[in-house]
Amino acid sequence: MADRPASDAAQPEHFAFDAESEAAIAKILAKYPPGRQASAVLPLLDLAQRQMSRATGSAWVPIAAMDVVAERLEMAPIRVYEVATFYLMFNKRPVGKFHLQLCTTTPCWLRGSDEVVAACRRLTGIQGWGETSEDGMFSMTEVECLGACVNAPILQVNDDFYEDMDVASTERLLQALRRGEVPPPGSMAGRQGSAPAGGLTTLIGASAAPSSAPSTTTSNATSSGAPGE
Ligand code: FES
Repeated sequence: MADRPASDAAQPEHFAFDAESEAAIAKILAKYPPGRQASAVLPLLDLAQRQMSRATGSAWVPIAAMDVVAERLEMAPIRVYEVATFYLMFNKRPVGKFHLQLCTTTPCWLRGSDEVVAACRRLTGIQGWGETSEDGMFSMTEVECLGACVNAPILQVNDDFYEDMDVASTERLLQALRRGEVPPPGSMAGRQGSAPAGGLTTLIGASAAPSSAPSTTTSNATSSGAPGE
């Protein structure tokens, strides 16, 4: 029997996939040829975490769930422990209903992540990373680049990215979550996707040709299809 990962969390004795998870597992395993089902370890751990969220309000993967995944995929338990403890996305202890994952890597830091972190601490009462608020509503985790630097700073809440955060938008977001509302994710500065923060910088006035422009120039630009020529 492999050594179980060290844990300071109260671990449930048993875990079993429910009907919703079983339906998803059947579809996932069908993607892999016989003998290759170990490739499904990531999605099955994810399903276990989501099931825990549905059942308890806290998205995490207890060791009993890792053991069930190992048994289902005919893997040595240590192989599943290795995967679950490597990826930050799997929570090895209970988290709050809203898991605040704050990116503090350089682009987010340059754009004000320190202020967003401070606002989260002030509004939740959480002082240290990895802690959960007394009311069980929020947990705070420091994360590395979330791959959305173009709209930095980023605050990930559960699965959603809230972008272009500042103190005011952080306050509005956490107050809404506390009321039970989940605001639409995306840019809090009103950007469309990752459009420039300062508005359009190209194609401005492209539809209105200057009245003084020679007709041949206008004609050439139109026929070449080159914008801005
Ligand atoms: S540095 Fe924060 S999303 Fe990339």
